[in-house]
Amino acid sequence: MTPSDVKATLSFSDGSPSMELPIYKGTIGPEVIDIRKLYGQTGKFTYDPGFLSTASCNSAITYIDGDKGELLYRGYPIEQLAVNCDFLETCHLLLYGELPNSDQKSDFVNRVTHHTMVNEQMHFFLRGFRRDAHPMAVMTGLVGALSAFYHDSTDINNAEHRDIAAIRLIAKMPTLVAMAYKYSVGQPFIYPKNDLSYAGNFMRMMFATPCEDFTVSPVIERALDRIFILHADHEQNASTSTVRLCGSSGTNPFAAIAAGVACLWGPAHGGANEAALNMLEDIQKMGGVEKIGEFIAQVKDKSSNVKLMGFGHRVYKNYDPRAKLMRETCHEVLSELGLHNDPLFKLAMALEKIALEDDYFVARKLYPNVDFYSGIVQRAIGIPTSLFTANFALARTVGWIAQLNEMIADPEYKIGRPRQLFSGAAPRMVKPIGER
Ligand code: SDX
Repeated sequence: MTPSDVKATLSFSDGSPSMELPIYKGTIGPEVIDIRKLYGQTGKFTYDPGFLSTASCNSAITYIDGDKGELLYRGYPIEQLAVNCDFLETCHLLLYGELPNSDQKSDFVNRVTHHTMVNEQMHFFLRGFRRDAHPMAVMTGLVGALSAFYHDSTDINNAEHRDIAAIRLIAKMPTLVAMAYKYSVGQPFIYPKNDLSYAGNFMRMMFATPCEDFTVSPVIERALDRIFILHADHEQNASTSTVRLCGSSGTNPFAAIAAGVACLWGPAHGGANEAALNMLEDIQKMGGVEKIGEFIAQVKDKSSNVKLMGFGHRVYKNYDPRAKLMRETCHEVLSELGLHNDPLFKLAMALEKIALEDDYFVARKLYPNVDFYSGIVQRAIGIPTSLFTANFALARTVGWIAQLNEMIADPEYKIGRPRQLFSGAAPRMVKPIGER
């Protein structure tokens, strides 16, 4: 980061000594005011619940311009990566900073492919869950449980250990998500096959059975691979910040990623794709397109606590570029499957159109986000709604581990330990119980 010529001066109306704060600029995007010395010099904290104005770290991985609706992975626009690359090339880019050449790609694919199996003992973890357990509850358990198998061989301060943990996590997530699905439907687990692509392997582990193999159509395989690219990383979102904070204690990567899985589950975050599809199905049951006005009225009535799931974003105050690409993918997949008249897709597009013309949403700069269309396309390829967020976690694992490794490799990193504004009871004496 480059010091700016401009400094920030903090002065106090009570005549307390003012303070000069350095400003730093990155490659692109907002500059930062360095407040690291603030408490030491003023005895005051900054206050920013929800971190609306706080940069928690210095990162070179992903850049978002919320006003323009731009998303770059290591400088490459998401629109170019989604069309010209596949998910494993994107994983290489996020992890190592560059797109692989053909030799590097075949080496990386080979390494990931040969780590797709999980220890047979993992089957017993699943047996402990009810068959109807939510897949994200299962995934939080399974990913954390991976540390029981590799904890002793993962010294996070060892770059080689960090790299093998990244490969293991990227490789094993599809296997674990498919196992969670198979367990929920009472079918036997399907082992990965090394001659399949990353997305093709996942689809086969999901839908093949010992009685009948499964080959995925190239259009669906490519669509799923693109969905993984769109979800791979997204700057310092809630789950990535969770992974960074969890990892900053020095815990192993599997435990830190399990924390990210748990955070992603929330409906305000990765759980929104499941909630968005359920919302569309509810509107459909209410009567479909004719009932959109009634639903929008509910959303605008704050007392209803109804939100338009898949809309709005802390950073994007313009159209989420991933939502545009997801809508195109939706169209491709539905056409491939002969479902171009899918009522939910038509309903989603009608809802989007009406919302984008409504002052309530325009005034609040609420646009569709990545979760608005992803449920429709996943449902069309046969993925159950309850598994949508687990798929989001599958794809986001590379972003989480890249961000974690970037933090651990930063010589300046320390354990994260925010402070607070205390508004509780002032010091008081304990009275004997008879006097309370
Ligand atoms: C993801 O951070 C990331 O990068 C996340 C993510 C990633 O890739 O990691 O992009 C993935 O999580 C996408 C977001 C998925 N969530 C949803 O679709 C759930 C619905 N969206 C909202 O919950 C909300 O928009 C958030 C949580 C996404 C953002 O919330 P903010 O930034 O805290 O904004 P806010 O809640 O303060 O909303 C501002 C205003 C409020 O109205 P006023 O109080 O100003 O009158 O907009 C309203 C909100 O009530 N509002 C909505 C709304 N989202 C915001 N009203 C109706 N429906 C919505 N979806």
